[in-house]
Amino acid sequence: MIEGVEAEALARRFGTPLYAYSKALIRARWEELVAAFPAGSLIGYAVKANSNPAILSLLARWGAGAELVSGGELALALKAGFQPPKIVFSGVGKTQAEMRAGIRKGILAFNVESEEELSLLIKTARGMGRRARVSIRVNPAIAISTHPHIATATARSKFGVSPREALRLSLRAARDPSLSFVGLHSHLGSQIFEARPYERESRILADLARTLSSRGIPVKLLDFGGGFGVDESGRRRFPLESVSRVLSRAAGSLSGPARLAVEPGRFLVAESGTLLTRLLYRKETIGRRLLVVDAGMNDFVRPALYGARHAILPARRRPGPRTPVDVAGPVCESADFLARGMRLPPLEPGDVLAILNAGAYGFSMGSNYNSRPRPAEVLVDGREVRLIRRRQSGAELLGCYP
Ligand code: LLP
Repeated sequence: MIEGVEAEALARRFGTPLYAYSKALIRARWEELVAAFPAGSLIGYAVKANSNPAILSLLARWGAGAELVSGGELALALKAGFQPPKIVFSGVGKTQAEMRAGIRKGILAFNVESEEELSLLIKTARGMGRRARVSIRVNPAIAISTHPHIATATARSKFGVSPREALRLSLRAARDPSLSFVGLHSHLGSQIFEARPYERESRILADLARTLSSRGIPVKLLDFGGGFGVDESGRRRFPLESVSRVLSRAAGSLSGPARLAVEPGRFLVAESGTLLTRLLYRKETIGRRLLVVDAGMNDFVRPALYGARHAILPARRRPGPRTPVDVAGPVCESADFLARGMRLPPLEPGDVLAILNAGAYGFSMGSNYNSRPRPAEVLVDGREVRLIRRRQSGAELLGCYP
């Protein structure tokens, strides 16, 4: 069931592959975050996790802010109703057009990641006769135990600048008449399940903030990024209370306390999303049993890209012993597996399978590889179902070519 609706009925009505989201689960995670952080904190949803407009407007309506990384995400967030004073813009490669769009709308902060970016932002704001608000993104060089692709604050990472460089850039930003200095930002990476790295991060940012305020520059915002883990198979839980305690303490420890910001993406939407797919064929290969389904790595890349082990369940209970099988997609790539060694009961072609916790970085990382159309998405609210993105048609695929 997805809330009050049978998964199999959804697959029949909308076809597969299909992303189905539970509204109640997004709401529950949102309420958990609001309860965990001090009143007045900015909870900026990382739009990249899932940028479906219907999901964005729910979060905007409930009062979330947004963290975004492109002009496209800015346009989507504004259209969904996020207020510019609750929007922060990160990313190592912002273009001047993206800067202009953000300045024009008066967003809360550009999280600036290099000196050259700072120079271009100054030039752009000056040219527009406006002030741009700026935070400096710090790389605190903290290794976390997660997949290397999603650790963003190690010494070798491309994001942010060293604390020393951050001090220099903050001083420059605070003195420039075309900028308003807002604060400090960092983001450790994704799929974190311990409070310890956040403690180290908050100490580094708070120390830097104290140095700045001793030079007469108040830090108004301490933005600690996201990374709140959601276990793909539901075993581990993120220690939200301890992380919130650590971060609140750091923000409150400054003379003239800073506003606290966090940027959770996955935490809000991962569990709400299920990817429904249909079994096409069963086959035996050398020494293994294989299920070939109609969703591939173009629909859901996390298993292939990060070795993520998302739980898979048959939509309808099937009798019989659960034995290990590999679940492969139809894409012509050897990496195109949704699971390896998943224990499943005997299944028949046509059966619907549900890939769990697929609401974050699922659809949003999809592609048209193998010229496959993008899947449909539905939002379930109790017994109500709303189509929130049509399945891409063949005509739309052909329509891109002049
Ligand atoms: N803030 C910044 C600056 C970020 O770069 C990210 C994610 C977030 C917040 C949100 O992180 P979250 O709370 O969702 O962990 N595609 C990968 C995850 C890449 C995340 C990139 N940045 C995956 O599927 O695991």
